Amino acid sequence: MRLSRASMVLGFLLLFSLFAFAQSPAPLISNIANRTTVNLDGDWHTIIDPYEFGLQERFYLNAHPANKTDRVEYNFDASPTLHVPGDWNSQRDQLLFYEGPIWYRRLFNYRKRPGTRTFVYFGAANYKTRVYLNGQELGEHEGGFTGFNFEATSILRDGENFLVVEVDNTRHADGIPARNTDWWNYGGLTRDVFLVEVPDVFVQDYMIQLARGSQNEISGWVQLNGSHGGDRITVSIPEAGIKQTLTADASGHAEFHASAKLDLWSPEHPKLYDVAIASGQEAVHDQIGFRSIEVRGHELLLNGKPKFLRGIAMHEEAPIRGGRANTEKDAETLFTWLRELGCNYVRLAHYPHNEYEIRLADRLGILVWSEIPVYWDIDWQNPATLANAQAQLRDEITRDRNRAAVIFWSMSNETPIKPERTAFISTLAQTARQFDDTRLITSALNRVDHTSEYVRTLSDPLGASLDVLGINEYIGWYEGSVYDADQMQWRSDYDKPMIISEFGADAPYGRHGDKDERWTEEYQANLFRHQLGMLDRIPNLVGLSPWVLVDFRSPRRTLPGIQDYYNRKGLFSNHGQKKQAFYVLQKYYEQKAGLPSAAEKSGK
Ligand code: GCU
Repeated sequence: MRLSRASMVLGFLLLFSLFAFAQSPAPLISNIANRTTVNLDGDWHTIIDPYEFGLQERFYLNAHPANKTDRVEYNFDASPTLHVPGDWNSQRDQLLFYEGPIWYRRLFNYRKRPGTRTFVYFGAANYKTRVYLNGQELGEHEGGFTGFNFEATSILRDGENFLVVEVDNTRHADGIPARNTDWWNYGGLTRDVFLVEVPDVFVQDYMIQLARGSQNEISGWVQLNGSHGGDRITVSIPEAGIKQTLTADASGHAEFHASAKLDLWSPEHPKLYDVAIASGQEAVHDQIGFRSIEVRGHELLLNGKPKFLRGIAMHEEAPIRGGRANTEKDAETLFTWLRELGCNYVRLAHYPHNEYEIRLADRLGILVWSEIPVYWDIDWQNPATLANAQAQLRDEITRDRNRAAVIFWSMSNETPIKPERTAFISTLAQTARQFDDTRLITSALNRVDHTSEYVRTLSDPLGASLDVLGINEYIGWYEGSVYDADQMQWRSDYDKPMIISEFGADAPYGRHGDKDERWTEEYQANLFRHQLGMLDRIPNLVGLSPWVLVDFRSPRRTLPGIQDYYNRKGLFSNHGQKKQAFYVLQKYYEQKAGLPSAAEKSGK
């Protein structure tokens, strides 16, 4: 039978589309911590593949030679392992600087249960990921710091299964972030991997929060997956005397509203309620705090009262051991340090951190600035880059929209003022408000007008799209002298709250000299003293997050004997040692909180 030319072209296009546009992840399942899961963490066999032969050699088949003449030039069984979760850079010396693909393989036994669907969930993988199960591609994901999941139901089998994942941490000019950052490009399966078991119709996602500006109106919605409408959903918050039954519409969506007198969440009183969302055979529990966050003129109001944010900025680096932080213990250590500093607030820079940190912030009462890595200059005019940023924002918000601790969604860090950048980030701000209209939108800006020698004015057009203005300034480090801070005035074209989202100085722990000798603890502490005096004169200042809690690895920081590939602006060394500047900021926060200073406490 001769195929017409048209049908041959159509057949080719169909085949091309099957391979060229691999599956995107399924909609993100929220609240993984409270789902039925099988943990796939552990030591996975891996093959380093710098020339990406793995695709043409089809590593994903996990093949074994059928006989002694068969040619199979790879063998996961005989290959070394890497621990998951974990970046590869900090697990093997020869991988410290590696950028490229690495293939992971995990064998696991499974028993399928009727009426159950199963997804493979990744907390994060940096940066591009391809996932295969039993030799079939589940799909691809781009982005290094947000969760993603693929449905595996029809490909899973009883008995042994093999999961093969290619992760490639190569940086891309059109990526989010792009090629240039001031942090280590930790690659790999950097967070937990789970199988998630859910009923045929399940609670995929939900939002249960106070309506914006309200302290007694809970508003939200529930989204089912697999529903064609009519399913009954019960939302109950027993301690608040709430129990409501909803009916899903044709898309599986149902709105939720309830009035209640609530014990509001705050740093001083981080009250969490047990919330149960039941549908069919499933009941998903979550622990949710209720609080309001809003701006009034240049004030920041938490539960209707002005709030000052005593913060610090923090990278997601594991204390002491180094590499990506990704366990509950890592989160506990980092949050113990920031609470010792006297913080009620943390800027999680420059990308969404792991869920252990966010849930711990909820339990401890630490307010959070969460950020997507639209960092420095990126490919502003590329629609795919914008779509990537929006997808990362969507998945960041999906995971954390029910965490009372999160009060800011930050769109960007230190981006150059040009029309295409302002349009790009203003679009992101609109997208964020569509996903979540209860939280405040911000960005860390660092282009200000030098109105005069000692006057800086924020007139960045992006400010019009933000609720709160973050300013990164480095007077005394990258600009001028430490003592300029004594005379510097800060102005803004916007009557909006301002946060000094970064200032700081590099100093290796234990390096000493006089207070004007750069790279010493004394210089760093002196800079903090003069900065804090300047901040107290900024009229619309509602908080600060000095740069940075802990020294962290960066390829840009090469000064031998001082940096050695670490950014040394930490108040803690990467070995957990406190520098002099720690005590300067701790004393300032004690005063801000109206607490007795350490000296007063010890009666000195
Ligand atoms: C910049 C940037 C940080 C960087 C810091 C520094 O403002 O936001 O990511 O590490 O300054 O130069 O130390």
